[in-house]
Amino acid sequence: MPTSSHATEPYPSELLTRLRTCRHLLVLTGAGVSQESGIPTFRDALNGLWGRFDPAQLATPEAFDADPPLVWGWYAWRRSQVLLCEPNPAHRAIAVLADRVPRLTLVTQNVDGLHQRAGSPAVLELHGSLHRPYCRACGHPHIPSDPQCEVSLEGAPLPPPRCERCRGPVRPGVVWFGEALPADVWDAAETAANTCDLVLVVGTSALVYPAAELPLTALTRGAAVVQINPDRTDLDDFATFRLGGTAAQVLPELVRQGWPDAGFG
Ligand code: OAD
Repeated sequence: MPTSSHATEPYPSELLTRLRTCRHLLVLTGAGVSQESGIPTFRDALNGLWGRFDPAQLATPEAFDADPPLVWGWYAWRRSQVLLCEPNPAHRAIAVLADRVPRLTLVTQNVDGLHQRAGSPAVLELHGSLHRPYCRACGHPHIPSDPQCEVSLEGAPLPPPRCERCRGPVRPGVVWFGEALPADVWDAAETAANTCDLVLVVGTSALVYPAAELPLTALTRGAAVVQINPDRTDLDDFATFRLGGTAAQVLPELVRQGWPDAGFG
């Protein structure tokens, strides 16, 4: 497998040709793409005030039903942190790529909304979003307010808001452990894996299914898969190319080397 371990060295010419000539590019991102924006990972988010809580115990429907203010408050706090962060060059490079290839499908496992803020309008959010809460009882969407209104500085959370339609409790809009992915989003992602000719896998351990299936589906159909990650992952054994480096180093460089005359960055 052609490998590049330095973000700015010339990337394999076969990869750059495939990038320039691809008809449908699938980009799958995970927590690593937002790491350089300062978004705490699932576990990092547990430092400080919330350090005594186990994520596996908070990110379940049962946890919410048992203690709605605790779970709502934890997500309100995470949302407040995310809103303080900015998209990084990796998010922006992906938005630029959408203008360089005939078709790009962006699938993310992240719930932070940074791809949209970087200018990617149509994002398939496999694990939902911190910014789209909805009613636990009737599913009606709820427009989130300023998160600072929902969690006190001492970390004592307020109860979740009530649904404007049925008065049920509003829940975070993320997919919890034990819940199915949103069917329409998953179908669109799977369709992309079945029609793309190139996949960029960015900043994901590629361990969590079914998201991890997507590059494998594309590979078995003959698409090339590019793994972009500073560390080794299980996908390395299958990937067509591996670019070792952080997302914010590699993705802008990939755009620059792919279209050297376009003057990106
Ligand atoms: P992980 O935390 O499992 O993996 C993050 C990956 O990003 C690792 O492979 C790191 O090596 C890599 N990484 C770290 N910094 C990076 C950087 N600056 N640039 C590029 N890569 C970097 O996160 P995910 O794979 O996204 O699900 O996790 C998938 C799902 O597991 C999450 O969406 C969450 C969790 O259970 C749900 O909450 C449903």
